[in-house]
Formats: sequence, C-alpha cells, structure tokens
Amino acid sequence: MTGSSTGQRGRFISFEGPEGGGKTTQAQRLIARLQADGLEVLYTREPGGTPTGEVIRDLLQHNASGEPISPGAEVLLFAASRAQLVAHVIAPALARGAWVVCDRFADSTTAYQGYGRGFDIEQMIAINAFAIADASPDLTLLLDVDLDEGFRRITDRHREKDTPLDRIEQEAREFHDRVRGGYLELAKRWPERFRKINGMRNPDDIEQEIWELICRECRG
Ligand code: TMP
Repeated sequence: MTGSSTGQRGRFISFEGPEGGGKTTQAQRLIARLQADGLEVLYTREPGGTPTGEVIRDLLQHNASGEPISPGAEVLLFAASRAQLVAHVIAPALARGAWVVCDRFADSTTAYQGYGRGFDIEQMIAINAFAIADASPDLTLLLDVDLDEGFRRITDRHREKDTPLDRIEQEAREFHDRVRGGYLELAKRWPERFRKINGMRNPDDIEQEIWELICRECRG
C-alpha cells in the first residue's frame, strides 16, 4: 500500500549534523528501505531541492559574483531556499501522503548561522518558523561526528571529485565546533523530535539503527 492511498499526511524526516557525518549516505539508504516497502518517498536537500533553491545553493556555496555575502543575507538566502522548497515540494508531498526525507532543514540555520555565526538563536528559530509554516519534521536524525573524522571524510570526498572545499566548509575549526555543540543543544531542547546517532560507526550499523528507530517511531 502506498502512503498516498491512506488519505493521511505523510511523514517528514530530516537529517542533520556537522560536516562529514554521513547524512546523505544514510538518507539514501533509508529511502531505499522505505521504497522497498512500497512507500512513496521523496528525497530532497537544503539548500536546494527546487530550481530556484539550487541557484541559491550555488550562490551560497561558491558565490561567483565575488562580492562577500553578508551574514544577514546568508541567513535570508537559506530561508528563501527553504520557503521555496516547502511551498513547491515538501508541503504538497506531505499532503498527498508521501514520505519526505530531507538532507538538512531548518535546524541547519539555527546551528550554522545561530550557534556558528553568533546570530540570536531565538531569532533564527523565528525566521525558520516563517519559512516553513507548519511543515515541521516529525523526526530529526542528528548524525554526530567529531570534527577531525568529519573533515577527514569531506577532504577525501573533495579529493576524489577534484573539487574545492565550499565557502562554509572553509570556516575555521572554532566555527564548526560551535555548530556541532549547537546541534547537541538543539537535541536537548527538542528531545521529542531529535534522535542523536553516533556517526563515527560503520555505515551498515548506522543504517540498521536508523531503520529500527523509524519502524518503532514512525510506522506504528
Ligand atoms: P551540504 O548539505 O552539502 O553539507 O552543504 C550545505 C552547506 O550549507 C553546509 O556547509 C551547511 C550549510 N548550511 C547552513 O550554513 N545553513 C543552512 O541553513 C543550511 C541548510 C546549510
């Protein structure tokens, strides 16, 4: 039976965490398992996920204009990409009963621009609320990884693809430390929504832990 035939809102799962935690790999593995069970599942990512959002992603990551993006503009660009994604992709999918798996969502702005850049946390949460309306994740999987391991993984990935670190990846170690700590704070603030997963382990074990968690908490 597909999600769309139930007449109920679908499920919304977000993957979050510092760089190199394995979010994309685990999101893809979860989707494969859900699809194997006959569910309609949509993968999307932030920033991006819509044609407009992908333009914003490129601007945020590589900014070919050469003009520095101000921290305030950065917050609002992430929020604009998110508002577009919710309106055009996430809300319609949930309304037809599909599952949505999103690789980063609103908590990334609170962690990176709030804890990382130093913007007021409550202000980031309010901007997120405006951008997402009522499309809040049912469950947020926080893949936690220590900084050295995370950066080893992303450096290897960029070396394989022959790409440079992007604008945010290039931030100082202290920035990424604050981001990681910020995520842990958010997980404490919203324990009913966040599940912290140890991203240092073997991907097969992480996949199994996530699957058991989803079966227990979202498929009852
Ligand atoms: P990634 O999803 O491929 O890791 O790249 C997205 C980058 O953008 C990553 O460095 C985290 C950053 N980011 C923010 O700083 N704020 C946000 O709101 C989002 C969605 C991502």
